[in-house]
Parts: sequence; C-alpha cells; structure tokens
Amino acid sequence: MKILITGCAGFIGSHVTEHLLEEGHYVTGIDNFDPFYPRSTKENNIREFLTNQDFCFIEGDITDYAFVNDLGGCFDVVIHLAAKAGVRPSIENPLPYLLTNINGTHHILEWMVRKKISKLVFASSSSVYGNNQKTPFSESDLVDHPISPYAATKKSCELINYTYHHLYNIDILNLRFFTVYGPRQRPDLAIHKFVKAILKNEPVTMYGSGDTARDYTFIRDTVNGVMGALDYVMNNGNVYEIVNLGNNHPVKLSELVHSVYNVLGKNPDIKRLPMQPGDVDITYADISKAQKLFGYDPKTTMEEGLKVFVDWYKKNSF
Ligand SMILES: NC(=O)c1ccc[n+]([C@@H]2O[C@H](COP(=O)([O-])OP(=O)(O)OC[C@H]3O[C@@H](n4cnc5c(N)ncnc54)[C@H](O)[C@@H]3O)[C@@H](O)[C@H]2O)c1
Repeated sequence: MKILITGCAGFIGSHVTEHLLEEGHYVTGIDNFDPFYPRSTKENNIREFLTNQDFCFIEGDITDYAFVNDLGGCFDVVIHLAAKAGVRPSIENPLPYLLTNINGTHHILEWMVRKKISKLVFASSSSVYGNNQKTPFSESDLVDHPISPYAATKKSCELINYTYHHLYNIDILNLRFFTVYGPRQRPDLAIHKFVKAILKNEPVTMYGSGDTARDYTFIRDTVNGVMGALDYVMNNGNVYEIVNLGNNHPVKLSELVHSVYNVLGKNPDIKRLPMQPGDVDITYADISKAQKLFGYDPKTTMEEGLKVFVDWYKKNSF
C-alpha cells in the first residue's frame, strides 16, 4: 500500500513507520520537527528510514494550508498522528494546540477529499474521558467534559472526522491511545522523566498522593493495534469507529515509580508535589471493541516494557 503518515518523526509515528516499511509498504512521512522536544531526537528517530527507497520524508507543517494542499502523490490511506501532544503545556499555551490539532486535522481532511483518499486512521487520546468515574472507559461513554485544551482538541477532531465521514464517505478509525511508553518515548512523559532523574541520581518528582493510575501501554502493543486498525479500515466499507487502544490494566503512579527503581536497582528517592491541573485520576481502557474488531491483544507486562525502555535509554545516552 501507499501510505501517508503525519508526525512520522515522533515517538509513535516513527515506530509505526518502521513497522510499515518492514511490511513492505511505501511510506511518505510528514513532520515539522515541532520544538516541543529537540529536533535532533526526532531526526534520530527517522535516521534509519531515510536510506530506505520505500520511504519519502517531507518536512512541513500541517497548519500551513498551502503546504498540505500542495502535497502530491497517490495514497491508499492516511495515518494521521501529527499533533501537539501533552496535557500540561496545553493549559499554559492552548492556541498552538488548537491550531495544530484541530485546524491541522481539518487541512488533512480537506486534502483527502480533494485527492479522493477515502481511508483514515487517526490518533485520538484517552484524555477525552476526562475525570469520568465509570471504569473501565468504554467507547460508548459520554466524553463531553474534557479537562484540558489538549483533550478538547482530540474530542473536536473525532467530531470533525465524523462530519467528513458523513459528507464525503471517508472511512475513519479514531484510536484512543492510552499512555504509550517504550523506546523513543517523548521526554515529557513520566517513565522517560523518571528514568532520566534516577540515572542522574536526582529525586523523582511525584505529583499527588501516588494514587492516580494510568493504563500504560507498551509501544509494540500500540503499533500492533494501529496495524489491526489499518487492516480493518482497508477491508471494510462505511466505517466510522472510535476504538480504545489501552492495556486494560491500570498501574498506580506510586507502583510505577517503585517498578522503575526496581528495574534500575536503586533505592527510591521521591519528591512529592501537589497534583497538576488537567491531570485525570485514572485512565483504564475497556479494550473489548478493539479485540472484537481486529483482534487487539496487548501482551507486554510493565516489567518487560520498562526493561526494554531502560535498555534503549542507556544505549542512547541522553
Ligand atoms: N504518546 C502517548 O501516550 C499518546 C497518548 C494519546 C494520544 N497520543 C497521540 O498520538 C500521536 C503521536 O503522539 P506521540 O507521543 O508520538 O507524540 P510526538 O510529539 O512524539 O509525535 C508527534 C509528531 O507530530 C509532529 N508535529 C507536531 N505538530 C506538527 C505540525 N503542525 N505539522 C507536522 N507535524 C507536526 C511532531 O514534530 C512530532 O514528531 C499524537 O496525535 C498524540 O496526541 C499519544
């Protein structure tokens, strides 16, 4: 297949790109090297693909309508992962989040209509569930109360995606990712920050009592889910679905911190700070829909995943 992937130089995007190339697809990747974290990190993420003849990289910004409109080539499907990610920074400075995540997604949809591309896999987020009390979170739950601008942008994208499905028959799978971790993980995310601090003999900062919990999902499982979704959207018609891609096994923050210390063989040194605005109490995915639609079956335990991350981190000497 010929696949356009946005955000290909990011954490999840680079893994998905790698997998698609291994499977023999032709991949065109777009990224603007957004300065949220260093350009050099993202360049490293895609360095190996640049010599692959089946990969074409285009540096550009999806908020720039002219750039998106001018994209040439024929594609069977778009995997749209480019976004400004991160809950806390979206509270400090919401506008770039609205521009990239909502306007940028709209530009991609308009371009798809013009190019007659009728298949889309989109990166949504567990953050749309806000502080919903009912767990595990199911795709049929009400998600009308996002508690950060970032979460609101992802819910907005699911809505505009529906409109384009309805008006222009674009088949769309919205994947709600749940705290993905593993090699190349974004440096702003907890596991990456904890490993970095511990290896520098600095204390780990823990926000809140440690009772908040996340449904951490290992990148390999997430990528398998994206591949399943891709297969599903390519082989079915009249598709508009929202699907959780979590682990169905939430881990408390205090437990996570201790697991990281265990894997690194160090004694805990924890600095406690109050909970941050925008942080939800728990994320917990009901994954039965993904299991039913495309056999999603996350297998990686936290201990296994942490070891892989730590090995990668040490080799990449940050
Ligand atoms: N990592 C997670 O745990 C998680 C959880 C839920 C949802 N998501 C979503 O998954 C997707 C990938 O997340 P990630 O963790 O890999 O983040 P990431 O920041 O590593 O990757 C996103 C990529 O998009 C690029 N980008 C940002 N703005 C752009 C623009 N205007 N034009 C072109 N490219 C742009 C960035 O440079 C980056 O390489 C995002 O949509 C994110 O919101 C991630």
